[in-house]
Parts: sequence; C-alpha cells; structure tokens
Amino acid sequence: MFTDTVLSGMRPTGALHLGHYHGVLKNWVRLQDEHPCLFFVADWHALTTHYQSPEVIEANVWDMVIDWLAAGVDATKATLFIQSRVPEHAELHLLLSMITPLGWLERIPTYKDQQEKLTDKDLSTYGFLGYPLLQSADILIYRANLVPVGEDQVPHIEFTREIARRFNHIYGREPGFEEKAEAAIKKLGGKLGKLYRDVRARYQEQGDREALEAGRALLEQSHNLGSSDRERLFGYLEGGGKMILAEPEALLTEASKMPGLDGQKMSKSYNNTISLREDADSVTRKIRTMPTDPARVRRSDPGEPEKCPVWQFHLVYSDDATRQWVQQGCRSAGIGCLECKQPVIDAVLKEQEPMRERAQVYLDNPNLVRDIIAGGCARARTLAQETMRDVRAVMGLTQG
Ligand code: TRP
Ligand code: SF4
Repeated sequence: MFTDTVLSGMRPTGALHLGHYHGVLKNWVRLQDEHPCLFFVADWHALTTHYQSPEVIEANVWDMVIDWLAAGVDATKATLFIQSRVPEHAELHLLLSMITPLGWLERIPTYKDQQEKLTDKDLSTYGFLGYPLLQSADILIYRANLVPVGEDQVPHIEFTREIARRFNHIYGREPGFEEKAEAAIKKLGGKLGKLYRDVRARYQEQGDREALEAGRALLEQSHNLGSSDRERLFGYLEGGGKMILAEPEALLTEASKMPGLDGQKMSKSYNNTISLREDADSVTRKIRTMPTDPARVRRSDPGEPEKCPVWQFHLVYSDDATRQWVQQGCRSAGIGCLECKQPVIDAVLKEQEPMRERAQVYLDNPNLVRDIIAGGCARARTLAQETMRDVRAVMGLTQG
C-alpha cells in the first residue's frame, strides 16, 4: 500500500512555548496517529545561525525533546531523532550540492530576509546559503512526501521539489529507459497495464493530478514488479526518468491563534511567552500582570475586550458562556480585570498540568529520553541508508 510519510524538524534555539504547542505540536500529535511520522531536532540548521553560540544549541536539544514528549508526541508512534546523529543527511546534502545552481539558493526569500533581519549575526556564510538544501536533504533522504511547516517554509519545500526533479532528470536517465519502461508495463499484466497507460496519458496530456495519484497507488499495489521496474514506472508516469527521489508536499500548519502576553504574536524575541512547562506561580504572575484595555484605568471604567490581549486568550481557552461573561462584564465595568483573567489562568494551568506530569518522568530519568533518541536515530539511519545506496549508485559512487 502507498503510505504517506510525514517528516518535520525543529531548530533547538530556545525553550518551546505555548505558541509552539498550539501551532506545531498539537498538529504533530494528531499526525502521529494518521501516518508514519519522523520528527527531528535540526541541530545543524540551528548552527547555521548560531555558530557563535553552540552552548545555546547544547542547552536546548534535550529540553526540546522533553517538550515534545510533554506535549503528547509519542515515541511509540513517531520516530524521534537528532539530525546530527544521522550523518547521512550531510552526505546527501553534499551530493545534492553538486547539482544545485547557486542562483536557486540565492533567490529563496528567507536568505535575504533573514540576513537583513538578524543583523546581530553575520550570515554571509556558505552554511547559511545552503540552509534550504540541507532541509531538502532532510526530506528527500526519507522519501517523505508530507512536510508539515509554517507558511514561511513553503519556498523551501518548493525548492526541494525542484531539486528532486533535477536529480531525477540528471540521474534517472539510463540507456534504453523507454524500452525498459515499456517492458515493465507488460509485466504489470493486461488490465493493470492498460490502466497505467490511461492514467499516464491523462496526467501527461491534461496535467490531471488525480490520475497521477491513481497511477502511483496502482504501482504501490502491484506485486509482480521488481523494485527497479517499479521505480522506472514511477518515473515514466511523470515523464523524465526513473524516480529516485520523491517530490514532497508542504502540509501547511495553520498559524497559531495563541497570542503573546502583550497581544503580539508569541515569540521569544518579543519577550512575551509562557513556556510549555513554566511553573504555575510564574504563569499566574505573568497573566496577572498582562496589559489590558488601556481605557480601564480604574475598576469603574468600562472597557472593550477587542482592545485587550486577555480577550485573545479567552478566544483560545474559554467557552461561550465565559466569553459572554467577559463581554458583558468588561463593557459594563461589572467585572475587574483580575477577575476576568482568572478563568484564563485556570485554563492555562489545566492545559499544562499533563505536560508537566509527563515531563517529570523524563526529568527524573534522563536515560529514558536518551533511549528514545537512540532508538529513533537507529531507525532513521536504516531508512536513510536505503536512499543513500540508490543515490550513490546513480552518482557513480558504488564501492567494491
Ligand atoms: N527550517 C525549518 C524551520 O525553521 C526546520 C527544518 C529543518 C525542517 N529541516 C526540516 C522542517 C525538514 C521540515 C522538514 O522551521
Ligand atoms: Fe481585558 Fe477582561 Fe479587563 Fe476587559 S475585563 S479589559 S477583557 S482583562
């Protein structure tokens, strides 16, 4: 059966906060029940911007894994690993660099944007230019087809598709490809062979994506094909040559509705975060001192929830009845701001409680986390090595 593989990575550059939970992690937790998933700590990616402060990375790698587990990412369902422990990513990055036009990297929007934004860092480095290509290697090495990412990362996925296509175009050509593909169609048998030709024509003549998907599903299910014939026919479906690397798709993660304490987006750089496992006293204090509608100077001044960051928290955490109570009480000065904040405090603490509990198990016994990561790295390496065998072979690097 054709199974989707989900892959995503996160850079260990700081503690995770509730914005990450509501944006990324809840999504991962859902996906792990639907597909085989690979989630990894992108420590090499972190080094592209933090090469001057490796201690930041060191301090955050393991905490980040604990945050994932605390949020409900389940190591019995998903494979969790650390990028730098699967050195095959680096090998694929190097090999892909041979065919990557400089212009493609230079015109990816994040390249110039980040250089302009992170002015405290010198990002005119080789490593930073290659950031998206390293990401391509992360994805292509597992032949992952679904990549959950935020909007800002979509150009990187598009770029990855172009790299896969270019690779297949250059290395998927073998002498007599068409003849071999035609012979493979015959092996499919009369009925499936005809179906294959039909969907191939529909895709190539009309660009029908559904036909392409149907063709891929058909190949996944056909048992009388060897793996080279199958790859040939995957490639022949789309035109070009043998499909060695698979083109991934971005699975757009909806932006988190979780605001920061000041009403802006929750972000470390705005200093407005509540971290995932922040202790209860600190959470309470932070919410109690949150700014509110500036019109409510005195308790007797009415306010407008729409002008207050606390209201945005109610939109994430409260039911209709509570929201109505806020609307009514704020506009009539019937409730005070501290009163209004209490249900939010309660809801945040309640949300964090199971996370703190789950994390405690790992904090008490760090070996559990080490074991999870060791197992995940081993599984990831096995998968990565399979792809690398094919890549080395077509690039003339088969030993022995
Ligand atoms: N660049 C991603 C980010 O900043 C992290 C990342 C690295 C990633 N490699 C990846 C995401 C592969 C998805 C797939 O968020
Ligand atoms: Fe904000 Fe609530 Fe105070 Fe109104 S009552 S200003 S919504 S905290």
